[in-house]
Amino acid sequence: MASTSAGQPDGRSSAEQEALDAMRPHLHGMWAAAAPSWGERAAYVDERAAPIAERLLALSAPQPGERVLELACGPGGLGLAAAGLVGPGGEVVLSDVAQEMAAIAAARAQERGLANVTTRVLDLERIDEPDRSYDVVLCRDGLMFALVPARAAAELARVLRPGGRVALAVWGPRERNPWLGVVLDAVSAQVGAPVPPPGIPGPFALQDAGALAGLLSGAGLADVTVGEVPVPFEAASPEDWWALTTALAGPLATLLTSLPADAAQALRARAREDISSYRTPAGTLQIPGVSLVAAGRRPG
Ligand SMILES: C[S@@+](CC[C@H](N)C(=O)[O-])C[C@H]1O[C@@H](n2cnc3c(N)ncnc32)[C@H](O)[C@@H]1O
Repeated sequence: MASTSAGQPDGRSSAEQEALDAMRPHLHGMWAAAAPSWGERAAYVDERAAPIAERLLALSAPQPGERVLELACGPGGLGLAAAGLVGPGGEVVLSDVAQEMAAIAAARAQERGLANVTTRVLDLERIDEPDRSYDVVLCRDGLMFALVPARAAAELARVLRPGGRVALAVWGPRERNPWLGVVLDAVSAQVGAPVPPPGIPGPFALQDAGALAGLLSGAGLADVTVGEVPVPFEAASPEDWWALTTALAGPLATLLTSLPADAAQALRARAREDISSYRTPAGTLQIPGVSLVAAGRRPG
């Protein structure tokens, strides 16, 4: 691992840290298992998240010749868009903790003939890259899966050169994202316990805009801003909504496939009922969603 200034920035004890470290391979393995679903739906993901990508690229403004690191890239749509901005003299590194995700991103870069894109397997909590090695760090819907978000924030600040920019997106408040909140609520009701369990990161772990800004400022970043991008979810039917959302749910997808058939059926029925309030007169679904987009700069 490259030199790192990230110790235990949140003040956890060594025993607590060890317990978290023991969970990592399991969580990362669940993302690896979700990779084929993400690969099959990469075009859909990019289309739905296009307004987020547009805002992140506007905020970070990658320039010709610059080096860009995308963290938690999944199929890599955001970094692939950045490749056109840095041009042939620049470089984009698409990275993910799951090798299977990085491989999908690599194949997509190759299909596009992008010679300025490489891929790496990197954990955003322990970025195995030298200090001050990137002009821009991007991350769409990845930071909230960090077991120790303060460590991840310190790491992304560390790999930025002085003056370098970060732009990242996380999901906003759960109650303003019923397209996914309804699934989590239904699963929690079905299993009789909160999902994700307390202390385990999930899609809404960084849903508070003030806390997100504090996280980035606490990592030493300057000019931190947090805004919102509407990301509504449109689906032809409740069945389509359920199929798409659960296929892309990462660790949640693993939990769902492990449920007994009758429990899974009851859960689907409960979720379909709960989501029906978003039905349009035409029978389709229009479900609200909002993303938080944050940006900052390494001083210097
Ligand atoms: C919700 S998906 C987002 C994928 C992609 N950024 C996008 O917007 O299409 C979350 C991604 O985070 C990755 N991930 C989860 N934990 C990670 C970690 N600790 N370090 C790096 N990537 C991680 C997963 O493998 C997955 O690809």
